[in-house]
Amino acid sequence: MDIVDLHKKIYDKIPRFISQSPGRVNIIGEHTDYNGGYALPVAIDRYIEIALSPRNDSLVRIYSGNFKKEGEFSISDLGITQDDELWLKYVKGAFWVLEDVGIPLYGVDLTILGNVPVGAGLSSSAALTVSLLLAIISYAGVLYDKKLIPLYAQRIENEYIGVNCGLMDQIISVFGKKNNALFIDFKTLNFSHIPFELGDKSLIIFNTKASRSLASSAYNERRTECEKGLDILNKCIGKEYKYLGEISLEEFESCKDKLPTPINKRVTHVINENMRVKKACEYLEKKNLVGLGEILFSAHDSLANLYKVSSYELDTAVNVAKNFGVIGARMTGAGFGGCTINIVKKEDVEDFSIYTRREYQKKTGINPEIYKVEVVDGAHIL
Ligand code: GLA
Repeated sequence: MDIVDLHKKIYDKIPRFISQSPGRVNIIGEHTDYNGGYALPVAIDRYIEIALSPRNDSLVRIYSGNFKKEGEFSISDLGITQDDELWLKYVKGAFWVLEDVGIPLYGVDLTILGNVPVGAGLSSSAALTVSLLLAIISYAGVLYDKKLIPLYAQRIENEYIGVNCGLMDQIISVFGKKNNALFIDFKTLNFSHIPFELGDKSLIIFNTKASRSLASSAYNERRTECEKGLDILNKCIGKEYKYLGEISLEEFESCKDKLPTPINKRVTHVINENMRVKKACEYLEKKNLVGLGEILFSAHDSLANLYKVSSYELDTAVNVAKNFGVIGARMTGAGFGGCTINIVKKEDVEDFSIYTRREYQKKTGINPEIYKVEVVDGAHIL
């Protein structure tokens, strides 16, 4: 059933607005966003949709088509309630942030439906928050700056839910463009689109289906390590940079001996990863996919050995893909489970799926999910 039919079934009303926001994979530039570096994500053809219709009171009713659950709250009571389930907290959080920035709020009936797998590292929560914000703001009928949507979505995560994420997932969900990657500079939040043309190759996602239980504690630990590294480097260079991403290679080289282990490894990853993003853009512009593939493999090594955010399952997924002979592969997103991306010749996609599934299953006992994805436009009202 599509979202219109579902909404009609639940509320007996035709939706006034339907918003649709995509999930993402990051091609390169991992753990660089909160370090003021570069990243190069793409939006994928997996979406979270919100259908909205007006009510004439101050109630918000929500039905989640994925969880087959319902919830409700009043817009006069947007405080965090610990008993609320996570998906419902996200909905409340969207109203909370919009109230905080002065958007007029009204009671509504909402339906949520999506096909971004939850907890797979494909940014289902960014797609959810962006979709919610877009639907609610559109109904409010106020003029708004689209660039603020990712910032509001990040505030829901950071301040309402308590997840300390950066801005990459939210920016790509809003500003993705069909067949383009988004080069983002997190020092300035400027971005530009770079044609992502794979020609006779496809972008394949390999979902390891492994639990991401360590993800949030390790994520916060890495952020702290980077902050410590920045502090030490600033003292050595005699500067007050805000981000690791501002430090030049020369400055890093002249001071790296001052960094204790493992902070030196974390910082080395960030410095090199930013250079890899630049190089990846050059390769994409020159349509050198073999070059891009090599960078993906080296980024994976760096995430596994220096930044230490990979896992047995992610490494296995990349190794079996390498053994198959893909053009490039690496873990994508925060790490500790989730997905890898693979650049695979179109004619090999079928064989790739059979081979990697079999080999991965032998080594991990897990049946992975493997999908071919298209690169699509960012969030919009349908
Ligand atoms: C998660 C976060 C992003 C980013 C990546 C790692 O997806 O939400 O902000 O930090 O991890 O690159």
